[in-house]
Amino acid sequence: MNIDIDLAKGLKTPLYWYDYQILQATLDEINRCISGTPVKVHYAVKANSNKKLLKVISEAGLGADCVSGREVTAAINAGFKPDTICYAGVGKTDRELILGMKSGIAYFNVESIEELKVLEQLAEEYGYKPNVCLRVNPNIDAHTHHYITTGLEENKFGIHLSLLAEAVEFSRNSEFLNLVGLHFHIGSQITDMAPFRYLCGKINQLVEEYERKGVEFKILNVGGGLGIDYDEPDKNPIPDFKGYFDTLLSTLQLREGQEVHCELGRAVVGQCGSLISQVTYVKQGIDRRFIILDAGMNDLLRPALYGAHHKVENLTADKDSEIETYDVVGPICESSDVFGKDEKLPLTRRGDLIALRSAGAYGESMASTYNIRPIPESVLV
Ligand code: LLP
Repeated sequence: MNIDIDLAKGLKTPLYWYDYQILQATLDEINRCISGTPVKVHYAVKANSNKKLLKVISEAGLGADCVSGREVTAAINAGFKPDTICYAGVGKTDRELILGMKSGIAYFNVESIEELKVLEQLAEEYGYKPNVCLRVNPNIDAHTHHYITTGLEENKFGIHLSLLAEAVEFSRNSEFLNLVGLHFHIGSQITDMAPFRYLCGKINQLVEEYERKGVEFKILNVGGGLGIDYDEPDKNPIPDFKGYFDTLLSTLQLREGQEVHCELGRAVVGQCGSLISQVTYVKQGIDRRFIILDAGMNDLLRPALYGAHHKVENLTADKDSEIETYDVVGPICESSDVFGKDEKLPLTRRGDLIALRSAGAYGESMASTYNIRPIPESVLV
């Protein structure tokens, strides 16, 4: 990642810095891997809805995966074609369902029979016949952080396998719904391919089971979840898309004309972003020293919420200085406002610029105004 320090010095911190080259190289690699295959990638807008990034991603030809009405609108405004947008979420309101239909999105990922019934009623009332993928809860453990596991029975997502037949029947018998496929999402930050392989095995079973009943699914949406290397962002700036798509395509037993849809968020934007922050104080504690940044958990929530670690780099310190040990913290009045404990960094001083790396996904998009702090500015360079 290239951070122009002179440019950064002139900008207000905390600042989300996005590296265009990394983003574009990531998108090129995705397109290279899926070219000539039945895979379509929908970018999960929730990972980062920054307009500048959305524009680049839409121009690369990806579709969009949205989870709110406002994400649908943002995606369309950024140039995503409505018929490349899918829309998931357990709690779509009537307004959001209507907005999705009016916008002409590709399909809804419907998460319950209750939602199917409301969608049908609204479709009839407003004169639409929306495409529907049924989101299935496959009860698969993705072995990722508890808070970002989504495909277990205990999670609120998707339709329980025991209710799927009823949901399929309901959609097929409806005059106002068009059943086009199945949708799955088992979790996020998954770097081991085994859970994906296992998911594809389950999908094969379901496709076969329904084929016997005369039901065909044109779209198999396997969700997102491909992880990134938070420890070595410079060594691995681009995730192993080839390994991921090869896993899907070699495990799924695709029928003629069937499409595989993926909803990648983190893997698309994670490595192109850093949160740049200035050191406000280096504070001496009793047995430790704290680097107190001007960025806090309101700007980058992942460490406080999931115990996630983003590589900490001092951009301006003398690289030859001795390595010291610090706790790197934010200014927020919460003990969980910590970015790193016992970080080894060159001698750090007030005014230094610090980068929290791999912050392109779920950084800016999860920022809040807690403590009446502003949402950080951003640049795409
Ligand atoms: N599709 C669905 C239905 C999802 O729920 C998600 C993410 C994605 C796609 C995109 O997954 P990805 O490719 O980015 O792993 N805030 C957490 C991550 C939450 C992910 C929730 N769902 C974090 O910062 O780690």
